[in-house]
Amino acid sequence: MNQEITFIQREKLKQKPNPDSLGFGKYFSDYMFVMDYTVDNGWHEPRIVPHEPFTLDPAAMVFHYGQAIFEGLKAYKTQDGTIQLFRPEKNMKRLNDSCDRLCIPQIDEDFLLKAIKQLILIEKEWVPVGEGTSLYIRPFIFSTEAYLGVRPARQYKLLVILSPSGAYYGNQLSPVNIKVEEQYVRAVVGGVGHVKTAGNYAASLKAQENADANGYAQILWLDAKENKYVEEVGSMNIFFKINGEVVTPKLNGSILPGVTRDSVLQLLNYWKVPVREARISIEEVFAAHERGELEEVFGAGTAAVISPIGELNWNGKTIIINNQQIGQISQRLYDTITGIQLGKIEDPFQWTVKVKEVGTVL
Ligand SMILES: Cc1ncc(COP(=O)(O)O)c(C=O)c1O
Repeated sequence: MNQEITFIQREKLKQKPNPDSLGFGKYFSDYMFVMDYTVDNGWHEPRIVPHEPFTLDPAAMVFHYGQAIFEGLKAYKTQDGTIQLFRPEKNMKRLNDSCDRLCIPQIDEDFLLKAIKQLILIEKEWVPVGEGTSLYIRPFIFSTEAYLGVRPARQYKLLVILSPSGAYYGNQLSPVNIKVEEQYVRAVVGGVGHVKTAGNYAASLKAQENADANGYAQILWLDAKENKYVEEVGSMNIFFKINGEVVTPKLNGSILPGVTRDSVLQLLNYWKVPVREARISIEEVFAAHERGELEEVFGAGTAAVISPIGELNWNGKTIIINNQQIGQISQRLYDTITGIQLGKIEDPFQWTVKVKEVGTVL
C-alpha cells in the first residue's frame, strides 16, 4: 500500500492534562488516524484527522455481529527526548491474526506502522515524560456496513487513537491479589481467545465484576474444557517460578500470545534462567506452594509490564506467595524491560523502534 496520508488540522488544540492525573485511558490526544475499507477500493483514504465523534448507521454490522478487534502498544520518551516504540511489528502482526480470525480484510502492516509513527510525530507533545508514563496507542478495526444478516461485512473502518497514560505503579512495583475463576471461562480452543477481539473482553466482565466485589485485582482463567489448567490473567500472561524454574502456560489456541510474554521468555533464555512453556494445572501450583517450592508468580503485559502476584485464591483456599514481596526475577524483568523501553539500558534484541531522532524537524 503506497498511499499518501492526508492531514486535516483542528482549529484549536486541546489543553493537555496534568501529568500527575493521567491514570489510564481517560484522556485522548488531538488527532487520530482513520482508514476505510470497501470491497471495490480495499483499504483507502488514510488520513490523520481531529479526534472527535463520528456517525455510524444503526444497522452497522459491528453492533449486531461483533466484528471488532484491537491492539494495544505504547510509545515512550527517553531522557534525550527520543520517542520509541517497543516491538510494534508484533502488534501489527497480531492485528492481522485477529483480522484473519474474524474474516476482516488484512491490513498492510508496514503501512500501518508508518501511519502510527506519523501520527505520533504530530502528537509528540502528548508523549508524557516521567517515570512509568507513556503514550498508549490503540489501533482498532470494526465493521461498518449497514446490513442485517450473519456474514463478513464488506465495509470496515480502522482507527488509531492515542491516550497519555500515567505510571501503573507509583514508585515501585506492588504485588496484586488474584482470584482463580471457577465458574466462568474466557476462551475455548478453536474459539477466539488467541486473538484480540472486543468480544473476549465483554465475555470477561461478569467474572471480573465478581472478583472486584471480593477485593481481587484480577482473574486467573483456567481452561474451558476441564477447568483445570492455567491459561492467563485478565490482561496479562502468567509465569510461575517453581523450585528455580520458570514455567508459563504453553500457547494452546485459547491464550493470547502476549508481546511481553515473548520478551520475558527471550530474556530468561538470554540470562540462562531455566524456563519452560508447559501445560500447568492449578493443582500443581497449589501443591508447589504446599511443598514450599512456589517462589514467585507474576503477570506480564503491556499495561503493567511485570505485575508480581502476592496472593492466589482458588477453591476456598488462599495462598500467599513470596510473603507478598516482589520476587527477584520479577524485579529484574521489570527493570530490564522498562529500562530498554526508556532507552536507559542496552537493547540487545533491537526491540525498540525510534519514532523521532533528536533534532528531527517535522
Ligand atoms: C487477555 C490478554 N492476555 C495477555 C495480554 C498481554 O499481551 P501484551 O504483552 O501483548 O500486552 C493482554 C494484553 O494485551 C490481554 O488482553
